[in-house]
Amino acid sequence: MTATTPAPGSVALITGGTGGFGRALATKLRALDVTVVLADLDSERNRQVATELDSSFVVLDVTDRAANAAVVAQVEAEHGRLDAAFLNAGIAGKSREALDVDEFLRVVDIDLFGVVYGTEAALPALRRAGGGSIVVTASLAGLSPMSTDPGYSVAKGGAVAFVRSMAPRLVGEDIVVTAICPGFADTAIIDPLREEFAKADFPVLTAEEVADAMIAAWTQGEPGAAYIVQPGIGAVPYKFKGVPSAKTASGETAVVPEALRPPSMR
Ligand SMILES: NC(=O)c1ccc[n+]([C@@H]2O[C@H](COP(=O)([O-])OP(=O)(O)OC[C@H]3O[C@@H](n4cnc5c(N)ncnc54)[C@H](O)[C@@H]3O)[C@@H](O)[C@H]2O)c1
Repeated sequence: MTATTPAPGSVALITGGTGGFGRALATKLRALDVTVVLADLDSERNRQVATELDSSFVVLDVTDRAANAAVVAQVEAEHGRLDAAFLNAGIAGKSREALDVDEFLRVVDIDLFGVVYGTEAALPALRRAGGGSIVVTASLAGLSPMSTDPGYSVAKGGAVAFVRSMAPRLVGEDIVVTAICPGFADTAIIDPLREEFAKADFPVLTAEEVADAMIAAWTQGEPGAAYIVQPGIGAVPYKFKGVPSAKTASGETAVVPEALRPPSMR
């Protein structure tokens, strides 16, 4: 998948925007003349990062549902529209316990519910813009179980399922929802593992490679697709295997009742 250029004058919101992927994405989008708003936790450092990237900064804790809506309202008030929401904020768990439920819930709150609240907030603005895009930063850990971090795997797997189940509901409104699923990439989130990767000569992605995939998902993404990003392969759509269909009493493949399909698919 190769990115095309977003329309001039487009406005993009990036949650977790002052982190590794957010900074790389903002740099590339500014070079394409996209107006960029970075939403992240409140700190002097984060404000400074946004200034350096010629982007606006808004304070957002993605676990605060009302705050997500307020941030989108602010983007529209200050920039007139919203064309793309990159729901990218995330943390990884660090616990060495077999199951640390407090940490599990914290990770799911940020990495999964942050995406749900961000989507809820962005949708009305994207509709007002006549359509647009939501790109969720999931992870390879959402497609392949990550036994070192079950909360992260559940959150990212949930994010992929959320994207796949939301996408058909929105195609009729020209709103495309996609997920990107990077492998390990060189940002602060892998600090605890960096030495191990270096020792094993294990290739990690650059944040720039991931940012390219995020832009391609915005400009070229297929609704509901989950794009794997891995060193040496670029961004490729994951091929979901599907599940066996039910059979009728006479052995025919059962067809899902129309009422269970989203209006756009009836
Ligand atoms: N780096 C990797 O190896 C990798 C691989 C796959 C997916 N991801 C995902 O990519 C996304 C971006 O991570 P990154 O690699 O840039 O790491 P990062 O730590 O550099 O950036 C994460 C950003 O999210 C912000 N954040 C954390 N909690 C937040 C909250 N409650 N509200 C708002 N912002 C919050 C942080 O302040 C930080 O700026 C995350 O969702 C992460 O899970 C990372």
